[in-house]
Amino acid sequence: MKEVEAKIKALRDELEQHNYNYYVLSTPTISDHEFDMKMKELQALENAYPEYADLSSPTQRVGSDLSKDFEQVLHTYPMLSLSNTYSEEEVREFYERTERSLNEPFEIIAELKYDGTSISLIYEDGRLVRAVTRGDGTRGDDVTTNVKTIRSIPLKLRGNDYPQDFEIRGEVLLPWAEFDRLNKEREEQEESLFANPRNAASGTLKLQNSRIVASRRLDAYFYYLLGESLPAESHYENLEVARSWGFKIPDVIRKCHSLQDIFDYIAYWNIERKNLPVATDGIVLKVNSLRQQKNLGFTAKSPRWAIAYKFQAERAVTRLNSVSFQVGRTGAITPVANLVPVQLAGTVVKRASLHNADIIEGLDLHIGDNVYVEKGGEIIPKIVGVDLESRSILIGDKVRFIRICPECGTRLIRPEGEAAHYCPNETGCPPQIKGRIEHFVTRKAMDINIGPETVEDLYDAGLIKDAADLYILQIPDLLRLERWAKKSAQNLMDSLQESKKVPFERVLYGLGIRYVGETMAKRLAASFHSMEQLENATYEDLVNVDEIGERIARSVVDYFSEERNKNLVVRLKEYGLQMAVSEELLSNRSDKLQGLTIVISGTFSKHSRDEYKAMIEQNGGKNSTSVSGKTDYILAGENMGPAKLEKAAKLGVKIINENEFLNMLSQ
Ligand code: IVH
Repeated sequence: MKEVEAKIKALRDELEQHNYNYYVLSTPTISDHEFDMKMKELQALENAYPEYADLSSPTQRVGSDLSKDFEQVLHTYPMLSLSNTYSEEEVREFYERTERSLNEPFEIIAELKYDGTSISLIYEDGRLVRAVTRGDGTRGDDVTTNVKTIRSIPLKLRGNDYPQDFEIRGEVLLPWAEFDRLNKEREEQEESLFANPRNAASGTLKLQNSRIVASRRLDAYFYYLLGESLPAESHYENLEVARSWGFKIPDVIRKCHSLQDIFDYIAYWNIERKNLPVATDGIVLKVNSLRQQKNLGFTAKSPRWAIAYKFQAERAVTRLNSVSFQVGRTGAITPVANLVPVQLAGTVVKRASLHNADIIEGLDLHIGDNVYVEKGGEIIPKIVGVDLESRSILIGDKVRFIRICPECGTRLIRPEGEAAHYCPNETGCPPQIKGRIEHFVTRKAMDINIGPETVEDLYDAGLIKDAADLYILQIPDLLRLERWAKKSAQNLMDSLQESKKVPFERVLYGLGIRYVGETMAKRLAASFHSMEQLENATYEDLVNVDEIGERIARSVVDYFSEERNKNLVVRLKEYGLQMAVSEELLSNRSDKLQGLTIVISGTFSKHSRDEYKAMIEQNGGKNSTSVSGKTDYILAGENMGPAKLEKAAKLGVKIINENEFLNMLSQ
């Protein structure tokens, strides 16, 4: 028995070391595949010997689907905010005030102000016991289960010189790359986009399902240590020691000995911050000595020993011409401000997102108002305020969120707990109908050779009311319309014919079932093999499949419970579309590449890139487009990009040619 215990411990230590190497030091030393294998081994041992369970085990980082409401916890030390300044003049005032109050030499530590959501971690005997959000500053939500999924946060500390009890505070962040990936995925599913990484990080931390949290790859940087027996007498030195315990302490923090040092730091980071992987919105200045901090004390809201200097967000003033309301494929209504074009941060801005009804109400917008437009951490510019002073008595109407659908006149609904309004008229609202057909014909779905305008024309002419109608179009029908000639009509016929070969998973994706994006469609196809089996699958069948959550399962069941959708599927089948994974594919399936991440680069002679991609997936591997520590192989053809080559060499990723790859599969 002792042997098993020792093995479990060794695996835990080793896996945590790899997590640390990868997520804190950014220098991985084993492949993703090897890591996954060891993790599986540990998981199996923990399942077999539950008596050795440990809440600090790396297996705790994968999260769980069990939902539970967050408990409210009282903060031992209140979580205060910082007073903000926007000018160097105010920084000078802070410095001079500190000088006067202390009346002795002092050091200022300059740090970046990370723009995420703050978190307080409590460690006892070197183990993470609790993670609490800021909440109202006095009490916050216990989000320990979610925080444990953040790989750069130590569950157990390194070394042995840590105090028995202490608290460390920092910022949970969603890196830009993850933010972009997440929003792209949400756009595909017509879910509302996160406005910025801050909202995305705080939203993610409050999710009930920690498995989804784990999939979002949050990161965390730490900047404040609290406790009765801290290792050093100063802030900077404490952070240095905390770094040795395994925390990600930014290495950009600097000791400043003069006001000039501070201004240099500001000037440098005002530019350089744009190259960081995470969002920042300013810098924070803190008196270094803890004794001096204590002397300076706190006001009711913030410490007197620290101040935040906020970077100027790029902002412009322009006039609001009108507000339009767009209806998406799922019926979601998006309000958009139409502006007099204005130059902002290198682009001309004509439109800005107004997000939802609450935001419009909060701004008290009127048509004709001069509005402030900002492009901070956001991709889409946003209206942050109204210049009330310039508002004339001739101002236009107050902007109100619409109550009925601008397209079909149906009364809008706002589901409980959601910020968005929806038009519920799925079967009669033109943009929803057209949107579904447009989605069906896209390249990643059926790849039918027509664009949104053509879909619109065909719909307006009464020729198509759903995707299946495309397959009963006749050449003479098309020739009666404007802009159609024999050749273009024949092209469409050919393209429709060709689309009947499109594999089942893409047909499934083309249906546009809510939350079933490309990846999920592949996964569903791989597990259920045919439309019929998927239609007959119960909610339980679905959630039992790995990586299919409750929300997706519910959405699939709902979809097939509607007569209209069932009919559509019956007709598509009748017209000859692929309704099952092909026999050939099923028989060629293997798990030879299970757990391997492969990047394809260059051009090939034996098969096309797409064919290689498909082969990787059919054999259980994962395709990736960029080389990272997680890449197991690069399948390289002619003219592989030099950047990829260099990165591969640096990370020691194995490069194989097409023959070697084909050999791997034939073995
Ligand atoms: S120190 C008592 N340092 O900014 C001082 N805060 O308005 C505690 N923040 O709630 C905060 N980067 O979420 C500190 N380097 C940094 C920071 C930072 C971001 C956030 C933090 C805090 C808010 C203060």
